Amino acid sequence: MTRDFADTRALFDLPEGVIYLDGNSLGPLPKAAAARVARTVTEEWGQMLITGWNKAGWMEQPSKTGDRIGRLIGAEPGHVVMGDTLSIKVYQALASALEMNPTRRVILSDTGNFPSDLYMAEGLCRTLGPDYNLKTVAPEQVLEALDDTVAVMMITEVDYRTGRRHDMAALTARAHEVGALAVWDLAHSAGALPVEVAKGGADFAVGCTYKYLNSGPGGPAFIYVAPRHAETARPALSGWLGHEAPFAFDLDYRPGRGIERMRVGTPPVLQLAALDASLDIWDKVEMADIRDASLALTDRFIAGVETACPGLELATPRDHAMRGSQVSFRHPEGYAIMQALIARGVIGDFRAPDILRFGFTPLFINAEDVDKAVAIIKDVMDGALWDRPEYKTRARVT
Ligand SMILES: Cc1ncc(COP(=O)(O)O)c(C=O)c1O
Repeated sequence: MTRDFADTRALFDLPEGVIYLDGNSLGPLPKAAAARVARTVTEEWGQMLITGWNKAGWMEQPSKTGDRIGRLIGAEPGHVVMGDTLSIKVYQALASALEMNPTRRVILSDTGNFPSDLYMAEGLCRTLGPDYNLKTVAPEQVLEALDDTVAVMMITEVDYRTGRRHDMAALTARAHEVGALAVWDLAHSAGALPVEVAKGGADFAVGCTYKYLNSGPGGPAFIYVAPRHAETARPALSGWLGHEAPFAFDLDYRPGRGIERMRVGTPPVLQLAALDASLDIWDKVEMADIRDASLALTDRFIAGVETACPGLELATPRDHAMRGSQVSFRHPEGYAIMQALIARGVIGDFRAPDILRFGFTPLFINAEDVDKAVAIIKDVMDGALWDRPEYKTRARVT
């Protein structure tokens, strides 16, 4: 294990002159991932052709890699599997959880949740019938909104816009007290901070790997099902690779053993190869050390920007316990400001309506980067360098 993040920084391919504060959205390329994917392409796909499913172990990859993710989120071995996109995994977890609480009809979430989670919940309710509905409350009101009408509480632990963090153990305990199940989205937690799905009592948890876990654009998502539900949860997306015996080609569906039933179809072998190479880096570090370093970086950034740029309003909680690994500031011209920063090598992103978002990823970002970024933000703000037409035209991805 290393606490020296200069070692891990050397394992990433980071372009010269860039301070990359967007590893919370798309992690950078681990140097070993390029070689690993190339090997999978040429030696496995190229030489083994279809025999790669057996010879190269492609079929086992989703659960083998799932266990490596499981270590980072406090899951019991054998209870995490990879596949599909996070939106699909949200749907799967939600559908199974609703079916396990058949007398209730309400999904409870909050207005800070990522829209795709809410859209998936709405779509599922529409499919299930008019009695089902999604109720959203302000993030601060989730605890008191938990009552005996709620079938499933579906919460993203760290708010994608503000970086505000929910208390997983407390909300889950309350959900269970009122007879609801808890589904947690760990998109902005996995690889960002220590997560304890087992200790925290989560019934289901899902997350993506292309952010803090650096699997590359389109990398697969993961799903965790608590051991107590592993043999009873019924998959709504009952694809052939979640079947007990996919190659029996039975006409009827029988769920596979445990977490295997949450597989749907053919796994993304090339993306899993990239993810596996990235996880070799994660094997060298402890989440507690990452968290210490992340809090030091975010504290330093908040203090630096607040001193240098009074025009930017902090949107992220100051309280360590309530913060993920990103810092967000509000400004009505947030989009243009971010484009001006990107043009000067400080890469963060913008989230409507007014959020400038900066991610802090100790594996490859250090205090010197923070200080340089603060100086550049100060220049852009002091000189109103963002006030140019080319920075105001919105691109498709912000
Ligand atoms: C909290 C959260 N949930 C769901 C998603 C959607 O993920 P995907 O595009 O992999 O379906 C995202 C994407 O950023 C997210 O941040």
